[in-house]
Amino acid sequence: MTSPVVDRRTALVTGANRGLGLETAKQLLANGFRVILTSRTEAGGIAAARELDPAGKDVLYHQLDVTDPGSIAAVAKDLPGLTSRLDVLVNNAGVGHEGSDFESLKHTIEVNYFGPRDVTDALLPFLHPGGRVVMVSSGLGELAYLGRALRPRFDTPSLSRSALDALVSSYLADAKSGDRKRAGWPSAYSVSKVALNALTRVLARDLAPRHISVNSVCPGWVRTDMGGRSATRSIPVGARSIVLGGELPADATGGFYRDGKQIPW
Ligand SMILES: NC(=O)c1ccc[n+]([C@@H]2O[C@H](COP(=O)([O-])OP(=O)(O)OC[C@H]3O[C@@H](n4cnc5c(N)ncnc54)[C@H](OP(=O)(O)O)[C@@H]3O)[C@@H](O)[C@H]2O)c1
Repeated sequence: MTSPVVDRRTALVTGANRGLGLETAKQLLANGFRVILTSRTEAGGIAAARELDPAGKDVLYHQLDVTDPGSIAAVAKDLPGLTSRLDVLVNNAGVGHEGSDFESLKHTIEVNYFGPRDVTDALLPFLHPGGRVVMVSSGLGELAYLGRALRPRFDTPSLSRSALDALVSSYLADAKSGDRKRAGWPSAYSVSKVALNALTRVLARDLAPRHISVNSVCPGWVRTDMGGRSATRSIPVGARSIVLGGELPADATGGFYRDGKQIPW
């Protein structure tokens, strides 16, 4: 194995074999980053990485299924062999609406909330002061989508990680018993992104002493497989919003951004 390059800024992107993740990797590369492109399935991810960088010097590849603890552990184990530094972690992998049965709702929460939570936890040891975590969220993650009684439970500056996880578990319990609408929960996708935005605030507060910033980003409604053909934005415009989320001033943390501008949560 060749020894890792020491001095290039490095970013790791999840779900980067297609859509916004792939374009985010491309733009980060154009901005001078070395990119670790990751994907759930190897073949598509390796092909995407080689398309961006045929020589495999500036875009490296690692498999990563954000719902698989073994896969997450493998990235954390192998990362020191790939790079000596990690500057930006982009938690992009996500799923949209998949169905209304309990297993589909649970899968959405697992990919969109527990996935970025667990990937961030595993890769935090590699982020140094000045490091950034970008959570790819959505306008559908605005607090306004929650029923009135639920909003203050998420929107509490002192919210702890365990209290947030308990809120997400209470959604899953309501989804299982068929009570989710009566309890004021929106779609599983909205719940996953509201929870992700809340996690951004929790992590931002907890990581401030280490000078690691954590922000949520909305890419807008984008013409990907998820967004569909009627979406208003091109993939490059949506990905630009994500890239800008990793270039915010170092003291900007715990916020929700679109196109580099803070938006209300
Ligand atoms: N498009 C929009 O309008 C829009 C709007 C707001 C927010 N977003 C957010 O932007 C992000 C990217 O969305 P997109 O529009 O680019 O969607 P997309 O084209 O459907 O791509 C989704 C990506 O996530 C990956 N993924 C799904 N499950 C995964 C898992 N368990 N582990 C690792 N990767 C996984 C997919 O991999 P496979 O190819 O293996 O399935 C794919 O690479 C998502 O977080 C989404 O919620 C999108």
